[in-house]
Amino acid sequence: MVPIKWDPPTDREPVPKKSQIVIVANRLPFHRVRRGGTSEWATSPGGLVSALTPVLKNRTSCWIGWAGAAGAAPDPFEHEGIHNHPVRLSRDELETFYEGFCNRTLWPLYHDAVRTPEYRRRWWRPYVEVNRRFAEAAAGQVARGGTVWIHDYHLQLVPAIIRELRPDVRVGFFLHIPFPPQELFSQLPWRQPILAGLLGADVVGFQTRGGAQNFSRLCRRYAGAEGTRDELSFDGRTIHPGAYPVSIDVDRFEALAASEAVQRRTAEFRQRLGTDRKIILGVDRMDYTKGIDIRLHAYRGLLRSERITLDECVFVQVAVPSRERVEQYGELRSHVERLVGEINGEFGELGRTPIHYLHRSLPVEELVALYLAADVMLVTPLRDGMNLVAKEYVAARTDNTGVLVLSEFTGSAQELQSALLVNPHDIDGLEAALYTALHMPPREQQDRMKTLRRALRRNDVFHWANRFLDTLAA
Ligand code: G6P
Repeated sequence: MVPIKWDPPTDREPVPKKSQIVIVANRLPFHRVRRGGTSEWATSPGGLVSALTPVLKNRTSCWIGWAGAAGAAPDPFEHEGIHNHPVRLSRDELETFYEGFCNRTLWPLYHDAVRTPEYRRRWWRPYVEVNRRFAEAAAGQVARGGTVWIHDYHLQLVPAIIRELRPDVRVGFFLHIPFPPQELFSQLPWRQPILAGLLGADVVGFQTRGGAQNFSRLCRRYAGAEGTRDELSFDGRTIHPGAYPVSIDVDRFEALAASEAVQRRTAEFRQRLGTDRKIILGVDRMDYTKGIDIRLHAYRGLLRSERITLDECVFVQVAVPSRERVEQYGELRSHVERLVGEINGEFGELGRTPIHYLHRSLPVEELVALYLAADVMLVTPLRDGMNLVAKEYVAARTDNTGVLVLSEFTGSAQELQSALLVNPHDIDGLEAALYTALHMPPREQQDRMKTLRRALRRNDVFHWANRFLDTLAA
């Protein structure tokens, strides 16, 4: 591959209007939505946007990413104080780079291979080319001596390409999903270039210490790096892998929970679902890593054995549509919807539904109203980098009531130890935990929730961003 030429700025030729900090992520913080006859930019959901917005506003900054539709990229635009620099993805790249290499190879491989990863040679070149495009866009935007912060599995080659184009800048990389152990990662035919790509960064951040450890070990084994878990040397440079568990804007969720409009909505939900019934809630992207079907099985098990009845409880599952063109996601949706239908058919009564299922995304105010209404929050992924829904539920429960049932295979379980931790592969254990959650005395709920809230306060999203950027600047 021929590297693109980039003339480093000299003191006599300052680069005009370049950014001190450049964020590079597959998606931009804003996406296009249609309202009425017109379309406008709306904020993309997710902690990343609210975390980085304040950091970006104090400096000359820009965000490089894909605007969410195939074809030509929109022109760079300013929105809510953030300079957005869209990168194009062709229709073919949408299929080979995004749906293929990112979501059929890397996503399942990095999530414990809960679906079989597909290793197709024709998806690799588009991955390289799209990474190069993002890197070139970042190299063109960053000021001399500035910082480039790259996010997630779509862009693992970007750090090394930026290093080659702009040796003057600090490069950080953060992986939002798990980084797999050697037994799994070694399967990847492109393991060496991926590791070499990541090693272009000065700081490589992971959600857990385990992820950082896996990375360091693999770099020593396959990429010729030397050193320890916390410090590697490669190509004459020092690289710092580390754990930086991502978080949420706790103040924002507390404020939403305190708002009158949200509380009115909570009362309405409770009224509609039955004030004398306990509400069990699940909120996820419709993804096979989330264990949505597993929690439905557990709920069905409790109803079948009559340990719980419909007079006592009701289940609400929100499943946000995701990656619908990828086969495994379509299959999961059919599977979940069949299960919901079976359970409602088997146990429902006229005017009384066991599971309320919403397949759509909800505004954050509606979600917080649901968090406030829910007596039990079920978060049961088979593997999850962090799981911010668990943190959002805890942030919203300002009166210290409510029970969080949380899979031990999420990153958040490492901080939220006072949740009812479960192994989602063990359906009997999950049934028992759900039963315990539904019957937990108020005193124990309070004790656990207080501890959870303290843990969350110690590491909110601002703490996360500042810790990463401070390490990068050091
Ligand atoms: C996960 C990934 C993100 C991704 C999000 C939504 O949280 O870590 O990088 O943006 O899922 O998935 P999508 O494929 O719609 O961007």
